[in-house]
Amino acid sequence: MSSLQLHLPGVLSTDSVEWIWRDDFDQEGDVKRFEHVTVMRHEVVSALAPRPGGVYVDATLGGGGHTVALLGAEPKARIVALDRDPAAIAAAEENLATVADRVMLVRASFSRIREQLTALGIAHADGLVADLGVSSPQLDEAGRGMSFRREGPIDMRMDPEQGETALELMDRLSDDELANVIYQYGEERRSRRIARSIKKALAAGELRTTLDLRRAIVRAVGPARVGGVDPAARSFQALRIAVNRELEELEALLASLPDVLSEGGVAAILSFHSLEDRLVKRAFAQPEWEPLTKKPLVASDEEHALNARSRSAKLRAARRVASGVAP
Ligand SMILES: C[S@@+](CC[C@H](N)C(=O)[O-])C[C@H]1O[C@@H](n2cnc3c(N)ncnc32)[C@H](O)[C@@H]1O
Repeated sequence: MSSLQLHLPGVLSTDSVEWIWRDDFDQEGDVKRFEHVTVMRHEVVSALAPRPGGVYVDATLGGGGHTVALLGAEPKARIVALDRDPAAIAAAEENLATVADRVMLVRASFSRIREQLTALGIAHADGLVADLGVSSPQLDEAGRGMSFRREGPIDMRMDPEQGETALELMDRLSDDELANVIYQYGEERRSRRIARSIKKALAAGELRTTLDLRRAIVRAVGPARVGGVDPAARSFQALRIAVNRELEELEALLASLPDVLSEGGVAAILSFHSLEDRLVKRAFAQPEWEPLTKKPLVASDEEHALNARSRSAKLRAARRVASGVAP
């Protein structure tokens, strides 16, 4: 599929569906292999403008791309890097060994950033970046259950040791509740049909893997791709958002930020679908913030060409101002 097709106006808006679902097909339907490629690295570094002796937070460590870029831009800065995924922390322990004296790795959800900083004896940070959503390794590994293209358990948890799996969630919810999740977080208009089909498959004992789940969705809505989007895309996105409480996590992070950043500190948030961007926009309109981006920044055409994920990225940055008074 060409990138041109992705932007054709369709019956369904594609704004609310993340990159991975739209165009990760190579020719002949093969799935491209992804490494995690950092999005808008330069824009994030310029927004945070790290200074010597400053302490910064990377709320979403992932493959460590933003952490490394910030440390590279200012050799005397330090970073507290969080991730709720133990695999991301384990990889960083190895990959960031050469800068270990300047990085504090913390396995935690970013909703708990305030208490994590307190535990480290840090009163305030000078800047924070959050690059929302999932990393390519999380999507690529079939065992995490996040991709409808790979057969795996219906799990979808970023932290595989905490909370309900997607299968447990679907089992617990009523038809109506499941439809609401799919409608709200996937902006999927066919949510009722899909929920009924999923619950039927569950009751029949036919829902064991991600491919079974995709089949149940296709049974409800047919196999056609609309606007370049796979028929299962919105439902998978919705379930992942619900399982990981992604919007609640973001709301808690945004609420804690004024308490986390020092006066003059900058927060830069990269979001990948409209539900997230809406929350960030609303938070940065509060009096504690001086918005640095009137409209969200988007990646350059060059970056779009190199990294499909960057096509849905929106970067908003804002500065923490004194006593809640914006200039
Ligand atoms: C898009 S990746 C970050 C990629 C990273 N910026 C890079 O360039 O390599 C998002 C990461 O954030 C983590 N994450 C998502 N939500 C989180 C949360 N609420 N708390 C902590 N980590 C979270 C995911 O586990 C994932 O590893």
